[in-house]
Amino acid sequence: MNDLRVKIITYGCQMNEYDSHLVASELAARGAHLVETVEEANFVLVNTCAVRGKPVEKVKSLLGQLRKEKQRRGGRFVIGMMGCLASLEEGQAIARDFGVDVLLGAGAIHKIGEALEKLEPFWDVGFYPELDEVVPPPPAGALSAYVTLIRGCDHHCTYCVVPRTRGPEVSRHPDLVLREVEQLVAAGVVEITLLGQNVNSYGKDDPSYPDFADLIRQVAALGVRRLRFVTSHPMNFSDRIIEAIAETPAVGQYVHLPVQSGSDRVLKRMAREYRRDYYLERVARLREALPDLVLTTDIIVGFPGETEEDFQQTLDLYDEVGFDAAYMFAYSARPGTPSYERFEDLPREVKIERLERLIEKQKQWSLERNRAWIGREVEVLVRGPAKEEHWALGHDQSNHPVLLPAAEVAGPGLYRARIEEASPHMLFGKVLEPALAGSVSP
Ligand code: 5AD
Ligand code: SF4
Repeated sequence: MNDLRVKIITYGCQMNEYDSHLVASELAARGAHLVETVEEANFVLVNTCAVRGKPVEKVKSLLGQLRKEKQRRGGRFVIGMMGCLASLEEGQAIARDFGVDVLLGAGAIHKIGEALEKLEPFWDVGFYPELDEVVPPPPAGALSAYVTLIRGCDHHCTYCVVPRTRGPEVSRHPDLVLREVEQLVAAGVVEITLLGQNVNSYGKDDPSYPDFADLIRQVAALGVRRLRFVTSHPMNFSDRIIEAIAETPAVGQYVHLPVQSGSDRVLKRMAREYRRDYYLERVARLREALPDLVLTTDIIVGFPGETEEDFQQTLDLYDEVGFDAAYMFAYSARPGTPSYERFEDLPREVKIERLERLIEKQKQWSLERNRAWIGREVEVLVRGPAKEEHWALGHDQSNHPVLLPAAEVAGPGLYRARIEEASPHMLFGKVLEPALAGSVSP
């Protein structure tokens, strides 16, 4: 594989970022060279997302360009597609249209080496338990890293493709998780994010494994300075988990808990399994245990059948909770999902208009919540220069994005800072001192 020059292009969520790193490590271990651009590459691998129509369109347009590149090079160019879209028939049809040579579903990505040893096209959309046994090496020089805890999802939200793309929940063996975390800590990583479609369900599929609450404690005990996790489901967010967060300083007081809608009627049609009151009760319990809680969420607007009144209930719920931030989406009808089969899509204008109103609400709340941090001291993990000139970008222990004056920052690392200003999307701070000797690389 010495003449293999690979460019990996990643769409989608953190799980895909982790998977791309895993595949890159497998390829590097087999002698392939990882390159920065398509021009330098003779193999381009696209890690795909299928959760909404937009990422699918992006993949199609990229594959169109790659097909042209392949023609230009007289066929001496390999196109690969992996991840969620590759797991769906929809994606496999796209792959055939665009002349994809190597296709690996989200549960078969570790087969990348095998795929490239064969000279003929290679397609595999199976789910293999061995995938969980791969422990990728720490990303070079990184201060933050991801660790997969659990793959797949046992919920059946009617709008979602993930149960089909990533299969049922399978927890990774705790020894592998802990070994991976140990290696990251030893390599100087200060922030670890535990990943899964539903991390709260960790260990449910194997009675010999710790549950998520105990695993948080075990991981933190390895010396992780900052510990995060995504994503959670309100039905599985137990009191035990809340207690474990409260008792584990490394976790901080940040929780991402998708609500999706504030209307019981819509939640029922989404098959979210809980109702509005239940969600509010979880939030109350969280705030009791974590008085400085920074709470973020995911919301879908314009789900089929959502009336103006239903939407008002989502706006009201936003006011009742006062989220710090939210990822907001217009419903996207995905072929093969129950809601696509059963319900009629609302007009696009209705969805967009509601999304705009929700974004307005979110901005007001984020500004108010962010302003409450002015004057407070935080610890910022600086990643590097910000898009905005003269600023460095990082995030604090509650996951707020924070800008610090570039002149006060020596390089990526941890800094203590005081928050001086706030906008709806950002906190602005002043550096007090580097927070951890050795973490700052000039
Ligand atoms: N349409 C719009 N948003 C969706 N999400 C998942 N499926 C869809 C869909 N079909 C959103 C949910 C989920 C986030 C990752 O993406 O809010 O929490
Ligand atoms: Fe990630 Fe879901 Fe998109 Fe798959 S479909 S890449 S799991 S967001």
